[in-house]
Amino acid sequence: MSLVLGIETSCDETGVGLVRDGVLLGDALASSMDEHARFGGVVPEIAARAHLHALQPMVRHALDRAGVALSEVTAVAATAGPGLATAVQIGLAAGKAYALALGVPLYGVHHLAGHAAVDVLDHGPLPPRCVALIVSGGHTSLLLLGDLARDPIIHLGDTADDAAGEAFDKVARLLGLPYPGGPAIDRVARDGNPKAITFPRPLTRPTDPPYGFSFSGLKTAVARWVERQPGPVPVADVAASFQEAVADTLSRKAVAACRAHGIDTLLLVGGVAANSRVRALTAKRCTASGITLRVPRPALCTDNGAMIAAVGDLLVHADAASSPLDIAADPSAPLRGALLSGPGLPRR
Ligand code: KG4
Ligand code: ZN
Repeated sequence: MSLVLGIETSCDETGVGLVRDGVLLGDALASSMDEHARFGGVVPEIAARAHLHALQPMVRHALDRAGVALSEVTAVAATAGPGLATAVQIGLAAGKAYALALGVPLYGVHHLAGHAAVDVLDHGPLPPRCVALIVSGGHTSLLLLGDLARDPIIHLGDTADDAAGEAFDKVARLLGLPYPGGPAIDRVARDGNPKAITFPRPLTRPTDPPYGFSFSGLKTAVARWVERQPGPVPVADVAASFQEAVADTLSRKAVAACRAHGIDTLLLVGGVAANSRVRALTAKRCTASGITLRVPRPALCTDNGAMIAAVGDLLVHADAASSPLDIAADPSAPLRGALLSGPGLPRR
């Protein structure tokens, strides 16, 4: 029986998860978010130091919650990239140490593959093929997924500039809302009118790349609109209208990708997938097109350790070759497969 310990430290969350055969046994999460709030964004050195302090306690918490002993762990998975270099290094070094001490294999995994894999914990095995929309603070990608542990990942489109989450964070900042901006906009938008202002839907003209994204122009459009206001800014209306523009663009392109590729399952994952309007509008459009939408519960959309354990569990079950113990962190690792070096190669 396998038991995978997953470690996530790519940004400001120290996440640990324990997964056995597609089932989350226990997890724990510490965040240094409050320490970054006054800087308006994550400070890598502060995040790295917080990971160092939080890691072992989070491993203990997760083990306690799962009701298992560290000695029962049969494989370790750690985020090896992408992310903040100093932050990734802490979790990867810890993963190496646990793997070496326990005498079990180490999997250096891609953070974004973890975002996709985590839905297995909520909704069971993924179908043989699906379209995945990964929307996080650093990435916005529309992908064709086969077997996540074995097949290369095909990129249908990526963002040309800001990621969706980055746009949420920047717009929140210019509206005077706290960091992180996504949850703040989501909250404030509940009292606003999404039709109050028509912000642009970037890259949605027929001549534009159908699955490409761009959020920098939308952010600038919000900034210009706010600057032009003579009186107090109607924050709730701006937040709701901006959120609507993002949700409309993301869901429209994701559904179009499913239809064009004859795929009947859409996987919506990453921090921005926690957004209530993105979830609701995507669900509505998927239903209208006969597409099954899979989206993890909000707590598993944002960074956590369970997602890294989930991708490790898939690799173990696919009999993938483990990573060498001298694997290096890669802060800007391209997404090609679940393992950092590419799709998991079969063990001989
Ligand atoms: O996936 P994630 O936790 O970390 C990265 O891998 O980047 O995503 C973080 C991003 C942040 O930009 C945050 O503002 C955004 O996800 N986010 C949200 C919501 N919750 C988190 N954006 C919109 N609505 C939310 N409810
Ligand atoms: Zn993430």
